[in-house]
Formats: sequence, C-alpha cells, structure tokens
Amino acid sequence: MTIYLNGHYMPIEEAKISVLDRGFIFGDGVYEVIPVYSRNVFRLGSHLRRLQHSLDGIKLANPHSDAEWTAIIKELVKLNAEQDQYLYLHITRGAAKRDHAFPDPPVKPTVFMMSNPLLTPPAELLQSGVGAVSAEDNRWLRCDIKAIALLPNVLLRQLAVDAGCAETILIRPGSNNEPEFMTEGAASNIFVVKNGKLLAPPKDNLMLPGITYDVVLEIAAANHIPHEVRRIAAAEVFNADELLLTSSTKEVLAITTLDGKPVGTGKPGEMFAKLHQLYQDFKLKVMRAS
Ligand code: PDD
Repeated sequence: MTIYLNGHYMPIEEAKISVLDRGFIFGDGVYEVIPVYSRNVFRLGSHLRRLQHSLDGIKLANPHSDAEWTAIIKELVKLNAEQDQYLYLHITRGAAKRDHAFPDPPVKPTVFMMSNPLLTPPAELLQSGVGAVSAEDNRWLRCDIKAIALLPNVLLRQLAVDAGCAETILIRPGSNNEPEFMTEGAASNIFVVKNGKLLAPPKDNLMLPGITYDVVLEIAAANHIPHEVRRIAAAEVFNADELLLTSSTKEVLAITTLDGKPVGTGKPGEMFAKLHQLYQDFKLKVMRAS
C-alpha cells in the first residue's frame, strides 16, 4: 500500500513519525474519510469544506489549498491498485515538546493520507439489515469537528460489537425537562422513518455533518420523498417503522434490530429499498459525469 506523508509517497512500512507528534500524545488533529468509486473521488469539494470546518474548530491553519489537496489525492488514488478505495486523510498539530498549549511558534503539521480498498456492504447485509444497540451520548459538545480523538466513539462502538451488532445509536439527555433525543451513531448518521416520512436530526454541534447524510437528504428532496430535519426524541427512535444508518463506507444500511428488539417489521423496509437504490443511481450518475 502506498501512502502519503508530509510531501512524500511511500510504502506504508516506510512511514515514520515522531513519538512527540501531538496526534500521538494528545489526539490533537482532525481527519476525513473520502470514498473513491471507479477511481473517481466522491464529493471531494464537500469533504474539503468539512475538513476546513474541522481545522477551524481546532484552530489549525490548513496546510494546503484545495488545488494542492486535489493533486495529492489524485496522485494517491493513482498509486493504489483498487478501483474503489476509501481515503483516510489525517492532519495533526505536528511534533513538539509535550505541553497542552499550542506550540509557539507553530510547528509544521503532520499530514498523512492512506488508501484502503472500499468494501461497501455485501448483498446479504443489505437484505438482512444490521443490529444496533443504544447508549447515552457521553461525548463532548463539538461533535461537528471530525477530531482524531475518538476514544468515546471507540468505546461506544465497542458496545455494539460486544452485543454482536453493527452500530451504537447515541442518545443525549434533554435539558430543561426536554425529552432525551438522538444525535447520531458512534461512526455513522442515523435516520428515522415513521409513517412514510424520513426524519433526520439537525446538523448542529452534537453530530458530525455527514457527507452521506447530505446526499441522502438531497436524494429525498429530488425524488419527492417526504422528509423533515428536526430534533428526534429517543422515543421516536424506539418506535420507528425503519431506522437507517449512513456513512461514506457503509453508504445506506437498514437497522433491523435495536437493543435486541425488531425495528418495525424487523426487515429492511420500503424507505431503505428506495433510498439505497437512489443512492446507487446517484453514484453512477456522478461517476459518469466525472
Ligand atoms: N465515519 N458520524 C460519525 C461519528 C462518523 O464517524 C461518521 C463517519 C459519520 C458519517 O459521515 P460521512 O457520511 O461523511 O462518512 C457520522 C467515518 C466513515 C469513519 O470514521 O471511518
């Protein structure tokens, strides 16, 4: 596997960074995951905009212009063999003497990118759907930053794995007597379907603004699928007709059990079938156009 590190392309085995890197010491950095279909980078502009938002959120200057990122990304895609890839892009505040405060003067950020084969969910999983568990969302209040410090997400996602499930749906306690509400998954966005309507939580500081989430809402709007973006009470998640998860690597998947109980009929529903097909059509259209 060929990776990119600080201006150089190399086999992953040759890549080395300092043990003083602030990513290693403090988790002080941000990342992106970008799907590549048939060697076409999907929604690159949106991913670069979100990257800028994350960098702004941690007060780290963007080391590259969009044109430079595009050139690096295209080269890395070319240097790796698979047609379908997912790129992992990671920027940290660089290596400096250990001190919580930012290095002053700033040091060179570490820029790392790797490509892995993109394995979207197989047909069996699309047919069966996946299981999920629920847990309290105990993360910080800047979940809109795609931070590399993912320990809460790691622990929350492991709850699902330990229960033989694919994802953990996160529930925040409401403030001022408001009911508790759903934010997202440990590594995905979550949609609720009730009475034929697609419900999505609002993009605020409590969830990652998913690129797949945006595509799904665009597809819903373009195809006159009833949908609404608003806060979703936990009770609506537990009484949903369908639950869907979305991410760059999973695309659109049906959640068919929650905490061991069937969601709706316990089978992937009509909304899933429609959105999954439309998502595949959308991908094909984008790839043909590029
Ligand atoms: N994660 N929410 C969280 C917490 C996520 O980690 C992800 C994706 C998403 C979905 O975002 P997008 O549609 O842009 O992939 C939502 C990636 C895939 C990861 O960390 O590997």
